[in-house]
Amino acid sequence: MTWLITGGAGYIGAHVVRAMTAAGEGAVVYDDLSTGIAERVPDGVPLVVGSTLDGERVARALADHGITGVVHLAAKKQVGESVEQPLRYYRENVEGLRVLLDAVTGAGVGAFVFSSSAAVYGMPDVDLVTEETPCVPLSPYGETKLAGEWLVRATGRAAGLSTACLRYFNVAGAAAPDLADVGVFNLVPMVFERLTHSAPPHVFGDDYPTPDGTCVRDYIHVVDLAEAHVAAARTLISSPGRALTLNIGRGEGVSVREMIDRINAVTGHDLPPEVAPRRPGDPARVVASAERAAAELGWKARHDVQDMITSAWQGWVRLHPEAARR
Ligand code: WQD
Repeated sequence: MTWLITGGAGYIGAHVVRAMTAAGEGAVVYDDLSTGIAERVPDGVPLVVGSTLDGERVARALADHGITGVVHLAAKKQVGESVEQPLRYYRENVEGLRVLLDAVTGAGVGAFVFSSSAAVYGMPDVDLVTEETPCVPLSPYGETKLAGEWLVRATGRAAGLSTACLRYFNVAGAAAPDLADVGVFNLVPMVFERLTHSAPPHVFGDDYPTPDGTCVRDYIHVVDLAEAHVAAARTLISSPGRALTLNIGRGEGVSVREMIDRINAVTGHDLPPEVAPRRPGDPARVVASAERAAAELGWKARHDVQDMITSAWQGWVRLHPEAARR
């Protein structure tokens, strides 16, 4: 099998490429390098530089490399930015997917794994989010991911494409320091950045209906997330005609304050956090039920929060050596 991995030069994509090749799958990376880094693409894995909006270039990549499956990760993913630039997010995440699916069905590709997100749930008022929890996204980003799922499932039914929509929860960590997330848009790197400048971490609200008043999330190591893609790809190939929609999380909730305490313990920093105003649209608790992924894929997360923070910190210090405590 040879898989076209769009966004394969990105933080998550680079981990998926390595997991797929380590599992013996063929991989070709398709990435416009708008946020991806070419050096993340391993030797021996072809890189085609292009946007999924360029249907001709996508179709040529599918044909030139004899692609039999696609893992689609390329997308814009900043919630705040999506509120300011909804049309850009719909163009990149929905129209880009539509053009890709058009090329995929035209080329007779048999399997399609789609990067979706817990953002499709919006503010789920449940202890554990299952795949049947109503999807009421609160941001244009979340809307584009839900619309993307609709496109993928409808195309799968119409074209006999096996599909898997993977709803990522909160991704952190790295397989190696040079593969760490270079974006500072999520809790762990945002706290690292504050500590690096000897500034107290910010807690966006401590008056939520949770045990310590801070938001609770389901953090998943990027290596476990990548392994879930391998398991999904193999499941689609072994049983054609499948249509899977799966939460990819650990099923354990960790609060912001707990995460900051863990980060202080790993980094040796001990600046007490400052409580800042709530961030609009933040749900109090979003924690996955990971039972269906276990049942359908035989996949379960193996890494814990300590692994995520330790590996993320090693990546951070590689780029910000001044952050290491003297
Ligand atoms: C986590 C918690 C913040 C920074 C987003 C996307 C979601 C998915 C994961 C792509 C929140 C709090 C943060 C800080 C804080 N991405 N926080 N101080 O918002 O749960 O989910 O990323 O698919 O789609 O919505 O992740 O890391 O931004 O925030 O208190 O300095 O940490 O309020 O409660 P989020 P996050």
